[in-house]
Amino acid sequence: MPCPSRPSDLVFFVNGRKVIERNADPEVTLLTFLRKNLRLTGTKYACGTGGCGACTVMVSEHDPISKKIRHVSVTACLVPICSLYGAAVTTVEGVGSIKTRLHPVQERIAKSHGTQCGFCTPGMVMSMYTLLRNHPQPSEEQLMEALGGNLCRCTGYRPILESGKTFCAESNGCQQNRTGKCCLDQGENGSSSPGRKNVLCTELFSKEEFQPLDPTQDLIFPPELLRMAENPEKPTLTFYGERVTWISPGTLKELLELKVRHPEAPVVLGSTSLGPAMKSQGHFYPILLSAARISELRMVTKTSDGLTIGAGCSLAQVKDILVERISELPEEKTQTYRALVRHLQSLAGQQIRNLASLGGHVISRHCYSDLNPILAVGNVTLNLISEDGARRTPLDEHFLAGLASADPKPQEILESVYIPHSQKWEFVSAFRQAQCQQNALPDVTASMRVLFREGTDTVEDLSIAYGGVGAAPIIARKSCQQLLGRRWNELMLDEACRLLLEEVRLMGSAPGGRVEFKRTLVVSFFFKFYLEVLQELKKLAKLCSDSRHHPEIADRFLSALQDFPVTVPQGVQMYQSVDSQQPLQDPVGRPIMHLSGLKHATGEAEFCDDIPMVDKELFMALVTSTRAHAKIISIDLSEALELPEVVDVITADDIPGTNGAEDDKLLAVDKVLCVGQIICAVVAETDVQATRAAGKIKITYEDLEPMVFTIEDAIKHNSFLCPEKKLEQGNVEKAFEKVDQIVEGEVHVGGQEHFYMETQRVLVIPKAEDKELDIHVSTQDPAHVQKTVSSTLNIPLNRITCHVKRVGGGFGGKVVRPAAFGAIAAVGAVKTGRPVRLVLDREDDMLITGGRHPLFGKYKVGFMNNGRIKALDVECYVNGGCTLDDSELVTEFLILKLENAYKIRNLRFRGRACMTNLPSNTAFRGFGFPQGTLVTEACITAVAAKCGLLPEQIREKNMYKTVDKTIYKQAFSPEALIRCWAECLDKSCFHSRRIQVDEFNKQNYWRKKGLAVIPMKFSVGFAATTFHQAAALVHVYTDGSVLVTHGGNELGQGIHTKMLQVASRELKIPMSYMHLCETNTATVPNTIATAASIGADVNGRAVQNACQVLLKRLEPIIKKNPDGSWKDWIGAAFEKRISLSATGYFRGYKAFMDWDKGEGDPFPYYVYGASCSEVEIDCLTGAHRKIRTDIVMDACCSLNPAIDIGQIEGSFIQGMGLYTTEELHYSPEGILLSRSPNEYKIPTVTDVPEVFNVSLLPSSQTPLTIYSSKGLGESGMFLGSSVFFAIADAVAAARRERDMAEDFTVTSPATPERVRMACADRFTEMIPRDDPKTFKPWSIPVA
Ligand SMILES: Cc1cc2nc3c(=O)[nH]c(=O)nc-3n(C[C@H](O)[C@H](O)[C@H](O)COP(=O)(O)OP(=O)(O)OC[C@H]3O[C@@H](n4cnc5c(N)ncnc54)[C@H](O)[C@@H]3O)c2cc1C
Ligand code: FES
Ligand code: FES
Repeated sequence: MPCPSRPSDLVFFVNGRKVIERNADPEVTLLTFLRKNLRLTGTKYACGTGGCGACTVMVSEHDPISKKIRHVSVTACLVPICSLYGAAVTTVEGVGSIKTRLHPVQERIAKSHGTQCGFCTPGMVMSMYTLLRNHPQPSEEQLMEALGGNLCRCTGYRPILESGKTFCAESNGCQQNRTGKCCLDQGENGSSSPGRKNVLCTELFSKEEFQPLDPTQDLIFPPELLRMAENPEKPTLTFYGERVTWISPGTLKELLELKVRHPEAPVVLGSTSLGPAMKSQGHFYPILLSAARISELRMVTKTSDGLTIGAGCSLAQVKDILVERISELPEEKTQTYRALVRHLQSLAGQQIRNLASLGGHVISRHCYSDLNPILAVGNVTLNLISEDGARRTPLDEHFLAGLASADPKPQEILESVYIPHSQKWEFVSAFRQAQCQQNALPDVTASMRVLFREGTDTVEDLSIAYGGVGAAPIIARKSCQQLLGRRWNELMLDEACRLLLEEVRLMGSAPGGRVEFKRTLVVSFFFKFYLEVLQELKKLAKLCSDSRHHPEIADRFLSALQDFPVTVPQGVQMYQSVDSQQPLQDPVGRPIMHLSGLKHATGEAEFCDDIPMVDKELFMALVTSTRAHAKIISIDLSEALELPEVVDVITADDIPGTNGAEDDKLLAVDKVLCVGQIICAVVAETDVQATRAAGKIKITYEDLEPMVFTIEDAIKHNSFLCPEKKLEQGNVEKAFEKVDQIVEGEVHVGGQEHFYMETQRVLVIPKAEDKELDIHVSTQDPAHVQKTVSSTLNIPLNRITCHVKRVGGGFGGKVVRPAAFGAIAAVGAVKTGRPVRLVLDREDDMLITGGRHPLFGKYKVGFMNNGRIKALDVECYVNGGCTLDDSELVTEFLILKLENAYKIRNLRFRGRACMTNLPSNTAFRGFGFPQGTLVTEACITAVAAKCGLLPEQIREKNMYKTVDKTIYKQAFSPEALIRCWAECLDKSCFHSRRIQVDEFNKQNYWRKKGLAVIPMKFSVGFAATTFHQAAALVHVYTDGSVLVTHGGNELGQGIHTKMLQVASRELKIPMSYMHLCETNTATVPNTIATAASIGADVNGRAVQNACQVLLKRLEPIIKKNPDGSWKDWIGAAFEKRISLSATGYFRGYKAFMDWDKGEGDPFPYYVYGASCSEVEIDCLTGAHRKIRTDIVMDACCSLNPAIDIGQIEGSFIQGMGLYTTEELHYSPEGILLSRSPNEYKIPTVTDVPEVFNVSLLPSSQTPLTIYSSKGLGESGMFLGSSVFFAIADAVAAARRERDMAEDFTVTSPATPERVRMACADRFTEMIPRDDPKTFKPWSIPVA
C-alpha cells in the first residue's frame, strides 16, 4: 500500500452540479454512484459489462492537447468514479425532464414510438444527445455509429432510428426509389389524414409538432472545471477504497516514479479490460495507477515516415486521427491506416471506443484483438518509457505471445505507438468475422501485408497475423518466410493455404468452439486478400504499362471483395386510418404515443429497482449449483456469515411453508438437477457484501448419473417430463403409399434467451402488522407471485400485495420465474424482519432462468411431383430442462400450431418434452410456434427442391383456401391469410425480384442472394377457458378524473395506453382525464398472466364493461343535463349518491382441447400474416446482409396502429435474432457459457433490414374481440423466419452451383459458422477435420 496520506477529494460535476466525494472508492463505478449515491435512477443497469448501452451517459472533459471540450458517450457501468476527476457527467435527468423542459431528443424518441418497455430508452437518448452535442446536424451514418452500442429488445430499432433521423441533414423518408416519395404511397398523397374512411396512412407521428433543436439550451461545461483543467499545478490524487487504492498522478514523471514504487500495480486507462477482469474474473490489484491525466500519453506526432499516437488516445480518437491522416496522404502510404479504420468501425460500440485506449488495447493482448494483428503486420513499434529512459520494441509475435523477454518491464509503461506509412507495392488488409456485423467480438480477425519487388508480382515481404485462433494473436511467420520470392498466382495461393493451415493449428477442443469454421476462415481470409491484392496489382501494372500477365479474375468472383454496407434502414409503415365519422376525442384506432413514452425518455419512469431504498433494507444474492446432477453433501456457511455486514443466509430449512413443488424446489434440498439451480441466498446490508459472501459459501457435491443435456441423450435415457402429445388426421401410412416422392429430414432449432433488458428484480417489504407483505416485482403474473409467496410462507393471499408498475421487457420470461425470486426474497424478509431487495445480475439471470425450448424435429413428407403434399409425419422433441415449468403446455401448443397455414389431409404430429440437466426452459413469445413451424416450413423447402419448384409455389399450392377445419377440427376461414399472402407477394414485388435474385446469383460466385416468403396462421389465446377472463376497476373522482386499473401488466406492449384508449371511447372523455397507476393484486385480484397475445383483448373487454356500468349509472344524470360537462355530471352523480366506482369483468372465450380425441376449439381466433425477406450472403465468411423485408399482417381494426406495428417489428427482429444470431452455448458439463451480451448476440441497430416495410391488412374484421382488434404480441416472431429461409435459399443457390445436394440439415440459428460451412468449397475441403471421439468440445449442441 502507498504511504497513506489524506485522501484526495474527488471533484466532478453531474448535470451541472458539483460533486465532492471525500471517500471515493476505486471499486465503485459511475453507474452505482449515480443510482445509489445521487439517486439518479434514469441510468439503467442491464448487463454491467459495457455490452448493452443501457447505462450510457455523456462525459465532457477539457482536452489538454486541443484545448477543446470533448463530449463522449460512455457506459457508466465500466467507468470507475475515480477516473472522473475534473469531468462533467450528463445523465438523462440532466438532458431534460417532464417537470421542466423536454429535450428534443427525448420528445422525438417518445413521439416517434421509439419506446416500448422504455428500459433501453435513457441509454438511447444519451447516445443521441451526445451525438448532437458534437454534430447538431449529423449524417445518418453518424447516427448509426452512435447507436451501434445500444441494445433494445423491444422495438426492433426502426422507430428509434426514425426519431434520430429527424435531426439528420438529409432525411428523405423511404429511399426505395430515391425520389423522396415512398414507392408504397397509395392514392394522391398517401399520408395520414385522420377522418377519411379506408385511407391508408403511412405516418405514425407528425414531425411538425417537434420542437427544434436549440443547442444554446444545453448545459455548459462548468467554468470551475475549466479553471481546474487550465491550472498548471497537477497534484497527484489518491483515493482509498476498502480494498483498493487509486493513484492518479498529474505528470508523466510522477507516474514513472510511482511505477518504480509499485511495479505490480497496473496502469489504468479506459478500464474496459481491467475493470471487467477485476469484477468477474477474480483479478485483484490493491493499487491502481491511473494514467488518465497524463497529457504526454495523448500526443500525436506526424512524421514523414509514419504516425506516433499516444497510448492514452481513445480508440475513437485513433480512428479520427487515422481518417485525417488518410485524407492527407497518398493512398499507397495509408494501407495500414485504412486497415485499422476498417476495424475501428466495427470494434465494440461507440461508448467502448470512447473509453478504450490504444495503449490498453495493445497491452491487453486479447486473443480476439481486432487491432493487434494489424499493428503486428504493419511493423509497428511500441515506445516504452520508465524512469530509466525510453526504449522501442517491436509489436511482434514475441510481444503478442507475452514472452517475458518481449514484455514491458514492470517499471515501464507504454507511452505511444509508432505506425509507419506503407509504401508503393505494399498492400495491407484486415478481415474480421463475428456473429453479427457490428458490436460483436470477432470469431477470427486477420491482417495481411505483402510487399512486392518493385514493378513485379514477386513477394519480397509477407506478414500474416490472426486473432481468435489461439490464446494470443498469432503471426504466421514460417508460412510467410516460405512464400518469399513466390509470384502472386494460384499456385502461391494453394501453397499459402496449405502452409497456413499447418502453422495456424487449432485444437478441436479450443475455447470458443467453432473450430472448423475458424480454420476455414484462416484460408478464406487469405483468399480474399489474394484477390484484393491481385486487383491492386493489375491496377498498378496498368499504370506502369507493365506487360506482365496477372491471373485473370472473372467478374463473378470479384464480389468476394466488397464489405457489406452499414446503411440506415428505410421503409414504410402502412395502416388504415379511422373512420371519418369517428369523433376527434375518440383515440381508438389512432397512433397514440405510449403512455409512459416521455417518462421513459427522461428517465422518470420508475422500474422495480428504481424504487428508493426503504428503511433497513437488505440486499439478497443467490448461491447456485455448480454441478448439473449431484447430491449435496455439505453446505458450509461459516465463512460467509463471518463477513462484515452479512445478516443471514437463507436455506430450505428457513421456509415456513412449502418449498416449491416436489420436483421443482425453490431452494435445493439434498440434490441439484442443473447448474444454476438456487441452493441458498445471502442477505447483507449491501449488494457488494451479499455478492462477496455468496462467493464464500462452500458446497460439496457428489455427482449423480446420468447427466443428460441433449435431446439425443434424453431420448436414449427415456427421460421425459410429460406424456407424448399427438394429433392425427387421415391415414398417413396409406397416403405415403400413393405419393410420387417421399422425403425425410431433420431440423434443429437452438434455444433463445429472453434477454429482457431489465433483469429479474423484486423488493419485498414486510409490514409490522398481521404478517402483511408488499411486493414490488417485475413480473407478467403478479397473482402467481402472490400465490407462490403465500404457499411458501404459509400465510393467506389476502396479506400479500404484489405491485407491478412496469416491466422492462418480459417476452414470457417473467411469467413463471419471478414467483420463485419473490418467494425466496419473502422468506429472507420474514426471517430478518427487514425489507429485502433482489436484483439479478445479467450473468445470473441468464444462468438461472432458462429460455425458449431448443427443438429437434424429424419429418417424413409424401407429395406428388406437382408439389401437392399428401402426407406429413412430424415428430418433435423439445429440451425442457430439469423441471416441468411450462414444458407440457409448450409441447401442446407446438403440436396444435405445427400445421401453420397448410391443409394437408393426412397428418401426424407428435411431440415430447425431454427432461435434461439444464436450467428449466419456460414460456417465450410464440410458445413453441416459432420453433415448431420451422420444421413445417423446412419440409416445404425440401419438397420444393425435389419438385424443382419454388418453395413459394409449394406453399401456395398447399395453403388453406376455403373455410375449413384445422387438424384439431376447429373451423376457421383463411380469407385473411390468403389476402396477406397475396398482398405480401404483390407489395414485395416478389416475382420480379425472384428473377433479379437468380440473375445476381448467376453473376456472382462468392456472393449469393436469397428470397423467401413465409405465410403465417397464428392462434391467439391460452387454449383453456379459465385463462380467458379479466377484470378491471374504474374509479371516477369528484373532480372528474378517472383512475383505471385492470389485470394486465405493462411490459412495454402498451397495454395501459390501449386500456385508456378503450376507457376514453367508452366514457366519451379525452384520455387526458385518465390515469393508470400500476397493476396491483389488491385492486384487481386473481389475475391471469399477461401473455398469449390476448392481454389487451381480454382486459380491454373488462375495462369496457366497467366503463359501461359507470355510464349506465350516469345515464339519468346526463339525460337531465345533456349539455352539461363531464365534471358537471360527476358532481351531480356524487350529490345523488351514485357510486362512481365500478368493477368490470370479461368472462372470456370458451376454449377447450380434448387430447384423447384430438379435437377441440382451443383458440378464440387467429392472426394471419406473411413476410418476404431478401438477403445476401458472403459464401467465404458466412456473413449476411438483410436487403429488404415486407410484412403484411392482419391486425383487423388496430386499437393503436403505432403500438401494433411496434409489436410486429419488435417481434420480427426478435425472431430474426432467434433464427440468425442468438446462440446459447453449453459446456459438456452442462454449464451455460454464453452469459452476457458479449457472448450472446441479440440483433443490434445494424441488423434491421435495409428496407423494412410493414402494412396492416385493411378492411379486416373479427367480431369476437374488443372493437374488432387482434392481439399481435407474439405472432411477428415467426415471420423472422423469412430471413432464415432467405438465407437457406441463398445457401442452396451456392450449393447448386457447386454441384452439392440442396437438402442439408436445417439448423437454426443460421449463424455465419453454419452458413459458411454449408457453402462448402475448396477451402472447406482443405481444412483438417477432427474425429469427434478424440477430443472434448468446448460446447455441445443441446437441440
Ligand atoms: C463491451 C466490449 C466490447 C469489446 N469489443 C471488442 C472488439 O470487438 N474487438 C476488440 O479487439 N476488442 C474489443 N474489446 C476490448 C477493448 O478493445 C479493450 O478492452 C480496450 O481496448 C482496452 O483498453 P483500456 O484503455 O480500457 O484498457 P485498460 O482496461 O485500462 O487496461 C488494460 C490493460 O492494459 C494495461 N495498460 C493500459 N495502458 C497502459 C500503458 N500505457 N502502459 C502499460 N500498460 C497499460 C493495463 O494495466 C491493463 O493491464 C471490447 C471491450 C468491451 C468492454
Ligand atoms: S449496463 Fe452498462 S453497458 Fe449494459
Ligand atoms: S424499449 Fe428498448 S428494451 Fe424495451
